Formats: sequence, C-alpha cells, structure tokens
Amino acid sequence: MSSAQVAGEALALTLTARQAADFELLANGGFAPLRGFIGSGDHRSVCEDMRLASGEIWSIPITLATDLECAVGDVVELSAPNGKALGRLTVSEIYDKDLELEAEQVYRTTDAEHPGVAAIREEGARCIAGPIEAIALPDHDEAFMRRYQTPEESRKAFADRGWTRIVAFQTRNPIHRAHEYLTKAALEISDGLYIHPLIGETKKGDIPADVRMRCYEVLMDNYYHPDHVMLGVNPGKMHYAGPREAVHHAIIRRNYGCTHFIVGRDHAGVGDYYGTYDAQRIFDDIDTAELGITPLFFEHTFWCNECEGMGSAKTCPHPAESHLFLSGTKVRELLSNGEKPPPEFSRDEVAQILIDAYKEESATDG
Ligand code: ADX
Ligand code: MG
Repeated sequence: MSSAQVAGEALALTLTARQAADFELLANGGFAPLRGFIGSGDHRSVCEDMRLASGEIWSIPITLATDLECAVGDVVELSAPNGKALGRLTVSEIYDKDLELEAEQVYRTTDAEHPGVAAIREEGARCIAGPIEAIALPDHDEAFMRRYQTPEESRKAFADRGWTRIVAFQTRNPIHRAHEYLTKAALEISDGLYIHPLIGETKKGDIPADVRMRCYEVLMDNYYHPDHVMLGVNPGKMHYAGPREAVHHAIIRRNYGCTHFIVGRDHAGVGDYYGTYDAQRIFDDIDTAELGITPLFFEHTFWCNECEGMGSAKTCPHPAESHLFLSGTKVRELLSNGEKPPPEFSRDEVAQILIDAYKEESATDG
C-alpha cells in the first residue's frame, strides 16, 4: 500500500481528453487484445517491431503519461475531464518511455512541428502502466451517442443484418465526393459499409467532429443506402502517424467486426511527412490473416470533367488539366468566404453545413 492509501486517501487521476479516449477504447474492446496501458517492454517492442511483447501486431503505443506519485501495486481511481468516474488502474510499472524512439519509429520523424510528435513530447516520458477496470465510459454529446456502438454492438448489428463481408471507412474529414466514391466502390464488393469517423481529438485546422457528424448524417439521409450502410463513431484520437496509424485504424475496425478496411491516399497523414502510398506499403510486410482484417487500397481519386465522374489514374485516361483538384487550404478559403466548393468536389448539402459552421465560428470569434 502506498502512503497515500495508508493516509486513507485513494489515489486519483483525472485523465485528459486524449487519455480518456484511450481509456474508452481499452474499456469497450476497441483496443483488444490490450486491456490496459502498456509498460516499457511493450513500448519498446511496439516501437521497434510493431508488435506487443506477446507477439500480436500492434502499431502505436497506448501509454499513460503522468507525474502522479504512486507505487507498483497501487490502485488509481480514474475520472474523465468532466469529473465522471470511469474506473481504476492497478499500477504494474512506473517508467520513462523513450520518446525519441517512439518519434523515430512510429512517426518516422522527430520534427517538433509534427502534431503527433508534439503531442507525445508535451505529455512527457514518465508513464504508469497497468490493467484497467472500467465502471463507465466517457460521456459524448447526443449527436454522437445516437450513433455510438461498442465493438460488441456493431458486431451484433452486422450479424443481425446478415452481413459477412464488411468494409470499414476511417475518416477525420467531412465526406466529400472522393470519399463517397471510395466507400461506394468498396461497398460494391461487400455486404455492408461501416462509416466510422474518428471523433476524438484532432489537430487545429481539422473540421470539428460535431460539424462533421452533421455532414455524415445528411449523406446517410440522402446518398447512402440504409440497408447497406451503417454510421458509427470511433472515440479515438488522431496521431497523424500515417502508415503506423493505418495499421492501428485497421486493428480497431477488426475489433468492431469489420473484415475489410479502406486505405486511400496519404491515410492519416499530415503535411509532407509521408509518401502518398506509404500507408498502403506498410501492409506489404503484414500477414492479413494474422492481422484479422484485409486492407483495400485505393489510388488518389478525383472528379474528371471529361469522364464526367470520379476516377483515378487507373480508370481515367485524361490529363491532369481535366481533373478537379482543390487543396485543403483552398477549400477552407472558399468556405470562410461563404463560397461553396463546386458540386463535383462536395455535395451541396455538405457544402452548406460547412459554410454555416464557418459563419457560426467567425460570429463567435468576433
Ligand atoms: S485520415 O484518417 O486518413 O486522416 P481522411 O478523412 O483524410 O482521414 O481520409 C479518409 C480515408 O480516405 C483515408 O483512407 C484516405 O487515404 C482516403 N482518401 C481521402 N481522400 C482521398 C482521395 N482523394 N483519393 C483516395 N483516397 C482518399
Ligand atoms: Mg487525408
């Protein structure tokens, strides 16, 4: 027993939103086989070999960085940022993780400008490890809760619908025409599509999850077939780790019961840190039977004026001048001026939601 407990005072830790997101996926089964925050042996092994010390494929370390004073064997009561009691962790190890190893191996850069690297450095090296016992999950707003499923619930929903080949789509963006094309192409060769946007922390400049939910809902109402498409939410946070995160995203969707996973251009990328198809190449060295989910790779897709439809370098023979390309910066510029991106880029309903969100934001900023 630690001195704190002898004094009759239970050890308590209020998690950050990022840590609560990890807790949630540990607790709801989204991070299976993990059942707690990892220790130094797993950390090193995940960084160096992309495997847990036990051998299972695991690509991003799930660690709990804190300066809480405690000892091995202590029980720490965990709560969410809003104070909600979540459960407890039994401390199995206290250690300093090798942050630079994690940056180099997992993020492939030690650049302080990389949002994932900046985040782990900000959290610090000192970690506590141990299994968790959950009594509750963090709260989410109603717009998320009406779509919330645990892995057990999504698996049951797929089975109830008789789906056996289920393709998952990860996104941290509004669904534009290119995304819609990928998802529908994948659905053509599947029983069901699971649209599974990430709703945890994203970087500044990304469209907030509540605004994105409105975009997904309007597409569900108007452009996706209700018998073949389900919308869920992934409470996870973004790491912007490109290839390593593509594997991580795939593992989470395996746990939610999906059999296939879409990996397009620069999956989970940011800036110029990763090559366009690096997040596909990482799967070259992974046995998908062992992984338990099969990636489906897509080329960069775009609207082509001559094809009058979506295509890629594989399907469209026309030169780049015929292709509609709008950078993220350009889209943000249009939206903040109250201008809709063209319908070939984004459905009108989605563009309208984004414009309204920009207006609200500038109204509250002012
Ligand atoms: S993220 O999680 O990968 O950061 P994002 O919303 O940008 O989310 O993309 C979701 C998925 O769609 C990823 O697999 C990404 O590779 C793919 N994707 C996005 N835009 C395109 C595009 N124009 N062509 C092909 N794939 C794309
Ligand atoms: Mg992207």
